[in-house]
Amino acid sequence: MQKITNICCIGAGYVGGPTMSVIANKCPHIQVTVVDINQDRIDQWNTEDLDQLPIYEPGLKEIVAESRGKNLFFSNEVDRAIDEAQMIFISVNTPTKTYGKGKGQAADLKFVELCARNIAKVSKTDKIVVEKSTLPVRTAQAIQNILDNTGDGVHFEILSNPEFLAEGTAIDDLIHADRVLIGGNETPTGQDAKDALSAIYENWLPKERILQTNIWSSELSKLVANAFLAQRVSSINSISALCEKTDANIQEISRAIGFDSRIGPKFLNASVGFGGSCFQKDILNLVYIARSFGLQEVADYWEQVIIMNDYQKSRFVEHIISTLYNTISGKKIVIYGWAFKKDTNDTRESAAIHVANALMEEHAEVIVYDPKVTESRIYQDLDYLNTRSPEENRRLLTVAKDPIAITTDAHAIAILTEWDEFKGYDWEKIYSQMLKPAFVFDGRRILKTDEMKAIGFNYYKIGQS
Ligand code: UDX
Ligand code: UDX
Repeated sequence: MQKITNICCIGAGYVGGPTMSVIANKCPHIQVTVVDINQDRIDQWNTEDLDQLPIYEPGLKEIVAESRGKNLFFSNEVDRAIDEAQMIFISVNTPTKTYGKGKGQAADLKFVELCARNIAKVSKTDKIVVEKSTLPVRTAQAIQNILDNTGDGVHFEILSNPEFLAEGTAIDDLIHADRVLIGGNETPTGQDAKDALSAIYENWLPKERILQTNIWSSELSKLVANAFLAQRVSSINSISALCEKTDANIQEISRAIGFDSRIGPKFLNASVGFGGSCFQKDILNLVYIARSFGLQEVADYWEQVIIMNDYQKSRFVEHIISTLYNTISGKKIVIYGWAFKKDTNDTRESAAIHVANALMEEHAEVIVYDPKVTESRIYQDLDYLNTRSPEENRRLLTVAKDPIAITTDAHAIAILTEWDEFKGYDWEKIYSQMLKPAFVFDGRRILKTDEMKAIGFNYYKIGQS
């Protein structure tokens, strides 16, 4: 089996950055170089001030501090890093297509293809190429074809090694992974490559947690894992709507069903809807694949998970509007939280974007506070929707740095991310400076109903009548 001493990763994003940092940290004998076409991103990864890393992830800066400059490097010399590496991870983004065939559902693979072509062009020695990005099933075949037909007699072995880390807990998820999945060709060279990658993970994970499969199973498992997780959230969210019409309490239901060991307690928190770069994209991918094989019922079944998620977001907004006497025009509404979940500065597909947009459609005056998301990111998210002009977005929504001061004369507060700091706020003070009646719409169920009511708030918690 080949012993790997030099790794390159293309894509210094939420997946490539943390994953490679942990590999470097756990494998001091391997040189790890993370490259990216985005020079700013690489500069940020190389900053002296570790609070300026491009990604906020608990535990990340400590690991980067330990390994950077020793065996962990961030660089924009893509070709050189590819040439020197024995193993190359592809960790570039694969957004949902916004044009052409499969628009709105299929994954856009142009970045992955560019990477493959570049690897083929630059490589002078045999390489193991690892797909880390989540890709539609059978992408490995496409990468293999490109490499085999454009490479210079060099042997390329493709592996699929999907990522299961969740943002906000990425470092812990990597260090204590439930499992690592490695898919590869069922040939002697394929086996050798799978073992070489297994050996890397065995530096810190027990061997029995490293699963080897064929390449297609590995690719599809990633989509299915995310689809099942998202399905749990949509399932509990569908029941939250029913709870609001009855005296049942969603938290009690989650607890009651979660004790059933066949169901388990995780991913049963009702919320304003799931977000993140993966769930929606991966399910859409699954739907697209099923449909392209003529499996209409299979496609419809999984699509419903997304329809339920959209319903949860719009239901939340409609509740705000109807509670505020059916008009929010000109009313000041504070949004706490823009990230798609706590402990990350990632906002992709965040429910907050859709909630804010809908409130702005009704001409509310929206003020956003998030502890980690920048103002420019928030405006980019809104501008990307193309609902109205960038100027209008800036007129209708402002971004604030002081979460307490902004509640003065507000009609309502909507909590859209479960940041811990929101729980510790001086809610009595907030109440005193808001207009009365003062409303709080808790889309994350983080505050205590009794306490909020005792202060005087009109308090709504998703999943409770
Ligand atoms: C990840 C996964 O890789 C993707 O499959 C998953 O489904 C979503 O999350 P992520 O790391 O979160 O992607 O994406 P992002 O933070 O956008 O990072 C991707 C990086 O790749 C960017 O920094 C981009 O500049 C870089 N890139 C993109 C290249 O270096 N080369 C390219 O050709 C394209
Ligand atoms: C997910 C997968 O968990 C991970 O394995 C995969 O590699 C990438 O996609 P991520 O998107 O980072 O990770 O976050 P995750 O923790 O799964 O949360 C996704 C969304 O679901 C968030 O918006 C979160 O707030 C929401 N959620 C999660 C709920 O609303 N309720 C829950 O009980 C759990």
